[in-house]
Amino acid sequence: MQPYTHEPFTNFTEEKNIKAFKDALAYVQTQLGKHYPVIIDGEAVTTKEKITSINPANKEEIIGSVSMADQELAEKAMQAALTAFESWKRWKPEHRANILFRAAAIMRRRKHEFSSYLVKEAGKPWKEADADTAEAIDFIEYYGRQMLKIKEGVPVNSRAGEFNQFHYIPLGVGVIISPFNFPLAIMAGTTIAAIVSGNTVLLKPANSTPVIAAKFVELMTEAGLPKGVLNFVPGSGAQIGDYLVDHPKTRFVSFTGSREVGCRINERAAKVNPGQIWIKRVIAEMGGKDTMVVDNNADLDLAASSIVYAAFGFSGQKCSAGSRAVIHQDVYDEVLEKAVALTKTLTLGNPEDPENYMGPVIDEKSFRKIMDYIEVGKKEGRLMTGGEGDDSNGYFIQPTIFADLDENSRLMQEEIFGPVVAFCKARDFDHMMKIANNTDYGLTGALISNNREHIERAREEFHVGNLYFNRVCTGAIVGYQPFGGFNMSGTDSKAGGPDYLLLHMQAKTTSETL
Ligand code: NAD
Ligand code: ALA
Repeated sequence: MQPYTHEPFTNFTEEKNIKAFKDALAYVQTQLGKHYPVIIDGEAVTTKEKITSINPANKEEIIGSVSMADQELAEKAMQAALTAFESWKRWKPEHRANILFRAAAIMRRRKHEFSSYLVKEAGKPWKEADADTAEAIDFIEYYGRQMLKIKEGVPVNSRAGEFNQFHYIPLGVGVIISPFNFPLAIMAGTTIAAIVSGNTVLLKPANSTPVIAAKFVELMTEAGLPKGVLNFVPGSGAQIGDYLVDHPKTRFVSFTGSREVGCRINERAAKVNPGQIWIKRVIAEMGGKDTMVVDNNADLDLAASSIVYAAFGFSGQKCSAGSRAVIHQDVYDEVLEKAVALTKTLTLGNPEDPENYMGPVIDEKSFRKIMDYIEVGKKEGRLMTGGEGDDSNGYFIQPTIFADLDENSRLMQEEIFGPVVAFCKARDFDHMMKIANNTDYGLTGALISNNREHIERAREEFHVGNLYFNRVCTGAIVGYQPFGGFNMSGTDSKAGGPDYLLLHMQAKTTSETL
């Protein structure tokens, strides 16, 4: 077994890679418009109600249609998962992991094809799509290896005349609910973690990116996953989401998405329903209002570029996006000026063209919400660049900077989830830390500083799950920077970390008198 290392990103300055990616995009173009069924116990079920998935850069282009499960089908899927659990939980962990390693190999071979679906369905620019696919491969490879470690159990003491053992067993049927913004990596990572731990699952993908999820489910079948282990149930969150979260046989819910939905799931899952004999476990990874902090003793070019790339990568639609810049008053004007100048060089357009740095936002609802926040920003702060949107063909919004925000303004407090960054001036380092911690969230953050004392203080005081120094606050790598947040950012489950799989398992102690 090779030790885990993360999947390298594709170098798109090399001609052969550009050609390979263009070929993959051309291939995916020939696949558009197909239909993808609900999958229950390995059987395809085509329903009347369908989600039509469109290209957010070109509303006329249909990526595909996906059958929607209703409550009756969700119930069938639950029964299939319950039956499959009885055999899957007995599979040797190494045999379960072997399916993952094969899945990773297939995805690696078809890497650009998966990335091309991400370009088309999620509007990801090439580099962002490539990183999403690489992260999916990483999750699969990493969790496979983690399971091999966990199967060894954890040594415990035995007294004379007794033999004690401590090991982890699976939980049962899990409901996996995933977001649109890492429609491959997070969807696959959360699904795979549950499965390799010996659970069976019902996967409900985001409604704006269901085709990429369907392609992943196909891949898992090809990799040899037995029927009923992974059931694919796209559908309305309110309808089947609530039904499955409430279901008495649901043992755990693994959710990634907004604070609003995460809190709803947590509350509903806490209720013990008739026939339920356990407390459901909830993993809920939710929103962020992540801060780039710039000290007065810092590399100001690095500060400006880090703010810009953390704010505008994938149009600001990352939970980790740096949507606030808190800057020491001594360097505020200079950093702002550099960031505005750099932002003005960013290109916005169809992400199929590799020249474009930024593509669209995901859908009309997001477009409207972000444009509304831009209006709020015009009242609360000073518009420095951007501020315009165009939804005539796709959902395009210019990278937008607002300056001089009050630390308690809406732009500084609420998750916008779009290409908008708010600049706020701080008096000194104490003030910087106070502002950095003044939201309900606590997902990521970064400090740009050459002051060692301040770096060490931030390490203690900056209350976020993922804190970075002298770099962007996005781009955590599986196995290197386990990812998850504090407070209203969620349960801090640390995806891609050494204890993530254990959240999908329970520990059993056996003690034998000799
Ligand atoms: P969302 O909450 O709108 O949707 C997430 C999923 O929940 C979708 O599959 C949706 O269909 C489903 N859903 C909706 N209502 C439901 C209900 N009542 N019951 C069950 N499921 C329901 O989020 P989104 O717009 O897809 O993703 C963006 C959000 O996700 C942002 O807030 C972002 O910060 C967050 N996010 C967090 C992390 C993290 O690791 N903390 C990672 C990625 C995204
Ligand atoms: N891994 C993603 C990031 O850190 C969520 O940006």
